[in-house]
Amino acid sequence: MKITIFGTGYVGLVTGACLADVGHEVLCMDVDPGKIEKLRNGIIPIYEPGLESIVTHNVSAGRLLFTTDTAEAVNHAEVQFIAVGTPPDEDGSADLQYVTAVARSIGEHMTGYKVVIDKSTVPVGTGDKVRGAVRSELDKRGMELEFDVVSNPEFLKEGAAVADFMKPDRIVVGTESKRAEDVLREIYYPFNRNHDRMIFMDLRSAELTKYAANAMLATKISFMNEIANLAERLGADIEHVRRGIGSDPRIGYHFIYPGCGYGGSCFPKDVTALTRTARDCDYEAKLLTAVEHVNMAQKHVLFDKVSHYFRGELEGKTIALWGLAFKPNTDDMREASSRRLMESLWKVGAKVQAFDPEAMEETQRIYDNEPGLQLCGTKEQALKGADALVICTEWKEFRSPDFASIAQTLSHPAIFDGRNLYAPEMVERHGLVYYAIGRGKNQFSATGS
Ligand code: UDX
Repeated sequence: MKITIFGTGYVGLVTGACLADVGHEVLCMDVDPGKIEKLRNGIIPIYEPGLESIVTHNVSAGRLLFTTDTAEAVNHAEVQFIAVGTPPDEDGSADLQYVTAVARSIGEHMTGYKVVIDKSTVPVGTGDKVRGAVRSELDKRGMELEFDVVSNPEFLKEGAAVADFMKPDRIVVGTESKRAEDVLREIYYPFNRNHDRMIFMDLRSAELTKYAANAMLATKISFMNEIANLAERLGADIEHVRRGIGSDPRIGYHFIYPGCGYGGSCFPKDVTALTRTARDCDYEAKLLTAVEHVNMAQKHVLFDKVSHYFRGELEGKTIALWGLAFKPNTDDMREASSRRLMESLWKVGAKVQAFDPEAMEETQRIYDNEPGLQLCGTKEQALKGADALVICTEWKEFRSPDFASIAQTLSHPAIFDGRNLYAPEMVERHGLVYYAIGRGKNQFSATGS
């Protein structure tokens, strides 16, 4: 099938590349000529395992094409995916200007039936706005062409996006049109052959499904972080509690890992946007607001522990930091807990020596000229001359470090672990003090100097 995708950001590019990989003829459109030129040469702007090889392979096979020409994009295919950004505006609501601009372009250039598919995460009711924008452009041209608007939200995890697309848990499609339903079935047939993963519903329900999924996952994390904070005060170990509750299949083991707060481009933005949507329809989303507040506070927990350990005397101290990205297998720093930690440390006059396997360039870009930050080539270099070690991201290479050498290198033998990577007794055996999240009563005892 011929398919057009508007937007070559994270979602658009993964969608385009994976659809081309199963044989569709995909044209991706973006307004940024520099980006399009790079993509034509197989250079991709984001770090995502497996993506570069799929892009290169399908570009050379001639199935994945790129353009900056809107008219060409609209005319390429009956199927038009909208996968442009919906950044939060000042009050946290999703800014729909890019989505509606694409919808207007489709209305401006179309000459026959189109299925307009919204893949961007958009507030409930956006499908109607897209329909209105296409229609008003057609009216201006005095044309009565048929089209359908469909919501087909993505559920891709950064770092596993290609795998998530290729083997989806579900493919949610919101449409009231049988014609559009048939088109969507054909697009996704290669991913749906062995087992029917397509779930059809009305457009608004599909739009809400995306927000509900992310809000539910964010709620699980904030819930666990709250119980972890309680565990610390009660002398219990959250890691035992996690296993104890996860064994109940109604709760499950997934997504109940406590930590130093959730980040990324989706959870913080989507939870805020959903609370705004609720407010717009005169409903106060109390639970979602609490989820947000718990998360904001959780991003401060590591700093509080470090500050407590040093009895508030952090000026002139050097903190080694392992992990900058908001989670492993990505270079994405959006809403990363490491940022809140570093900024708090700088405020009180401490320095940071940081290492991340992928996010160094991105950190450099964000904190260019920050005197309190030194980026180090390896995790060992980050320890040299440092007072204590903090871990913000659970990269694989941090899982089994040389504790004896850490203890020797740090001038204060303390590890502050925001991801509960280690067994406390294993760390403490090497003479290190171990502070993690929700692991017993000693978590706030000030033993440093
Ligand atoms: C998320 C959703 O998982 C995905 O379905 C949706 O399409 C986009 O948003 P992503 O933002 O890539 O994906 O990251 P995810 O792996 O879900 O992690 C989000 C954050 O939650 C990370 O900061 C992670 O460290 C944190 N997290 C996750 C926890 O703190 N505990 C957990 O148990 C799981």
